[in-house]
Amino acid sequence: MPITLTPPRSASPRPVQTYYFMRGRKQFLEKLQTRHGDAFGIHFQKRPWTVLANPEMIKQVFTAPATVLHAGDANEILRPALGKHSILLLDEGEHMRQRKLLLPPFHGERLAAQRAAMERVAAQQVERFPRGTPFEMRTQGQAIALEIILEVVLGTAATGEEHDRLAGPVESVLEWIASPARLALTGTLGARHRLVKRMYGPILKPLDDALYRLISERRATPGIEQRDDILSMLLTVEDEDGNGMSDAELRDELVTLIIDGHETTSTALAWAFERLTRDREALARLEAESLTDQTEWTEAISLETLRLRPVLDFVVRTVKQPIEIGGYMFEPGDVVAPCIYLVHRRADIYEDPNSFKPERWLGVKPGTYTWLPFGGGVRRCIGSAFAMTEMEVVLRAVARGVHLEAVGPPEQPVPRFITSSPSRGGQVLAPASV
Ligand code: HEM
Repeated sequence: MPITLTPPRSASPRPVQTYYFMRGRKQFLEKLQTRHGDAFGIHFQKRPWTVLANPEMIKQVFTAPATVLHAGDANEILRPALGKHSILLLDEGEHMRQRKLLLPPFHGERLAAQRAAMERVAAQQVERFPRGTPFEMRTQGQAIALEIILEVVLGTAATGEEHDRLAGPVESVLEWIASPARLALTGTLGARHRLVKRMYGPILKPLDDALYRLISERRATPGIEQRDDILSMLLTVEDEDGNGMSDAELRDELVTLIIDGHETTSTALAWAFERLTRDREALARLEAESLTDQTEWTEAISLETLRLRPVLDFVVRTVKQPIEIGGYMFEPGDVVAPCIYLVHRRADIYEDPNSFKPERWLGVKPGTYTWLPFGGGVRRCIGSAFAMTEMEVVLRAVARGVHLEAVGPPEQPVPRFITSSPSRGGQVLAPASV
């Protein structure tokens, strides 16, 4: 293919593009893809992005060296909350160091132990679901995800002083940070602006105090090697030079895991039930499977939910050295955005791509460059197996505990924090108990 200089771009002025991107993102992207093909420019942020919707191009992005494409710049807006050591903000060597330190607790065999805690939390929370009155599945999913974070990530007991000391500040920060207005203000002023620092300071202080106290108490706890929670495991890891993580690094990575793991998983669960309550057969099959030790259908539901309603529409990379992708040349400063949403809707990959069909995944493994809810390459989500396990555990616990019904018409995706979330939070109804 001859190398041309730049991909086609939307000709609309930036404010018009911004409006369409915020109000009808999916239709806007689909229209541009129909008009321009699998690589096209959009301009709604400070810099234009090139959206990529073709698995071959996305493979080039995910396999490019870490020195050529960076991910940290795009996450800058999260800096005030996450802190400068956060894996999400780093690139190249510094990123690899944090990633290697963070990966062991997310390993498959560790997950098996963490699963039991997830099951306990999920069963308890399902018992508390409101009966006879509609509720938002996202809110319930958040409550479940919060308790799972407290137990599995931070290692607090299910109840007690330590649990309560952390639960309040964690919940406040999660609620506070999800406000689109605050995120927009952070973006406009810049993450390092002193007003932004002043704005985040008071809300982060109680959480930081609680986390530093927990870290110091846990460091002093004998036998942490035997514990299964992620914080305890992070306290025992060392890099190649034999250095462990400092308190500041631990704080930043814990906040990263808390924020990253909470909104994403609860949004995915809200979508799963938004779709399932409108597909009686699929729900009945889940309810039946939840009474057995089979998980094939439950896994298919998670895969299909994340295909049809990916929590994040894009991942984003900034070009640091010239690179050719799909026949186009990109220069330092350019931004490329593999589009999860458009790839997942390709009719040449997924038959009847706009329909919710968990059965398409029975006996089928998702493709590395065709199913991308967790991104890819050296930046692929480290919590993907954790999230898939949590989804499976919660889907089963809900299906076993209660029969949910849809409320109102199907919900549309709307932007919330960094996610694409159901417009009414995934409203469902559990019949009143008799
Ligand atoms: C359904 C739930 C989730 C979704 C859809 C999701 C999605 C993503 C995506 C798209 C990325 C960026 C990948 C890229 O740039 O290529 C990411 C990164 C990350 N995620 Fe998740 N995530 C989920 C749950 C979690 C959980 C439960 C945790 C931890 C407890 C977590 C921790 C992380 C971390 C630490 C990164 C940064 C990885 C790096 O930069 O090397 N995520 N996630």
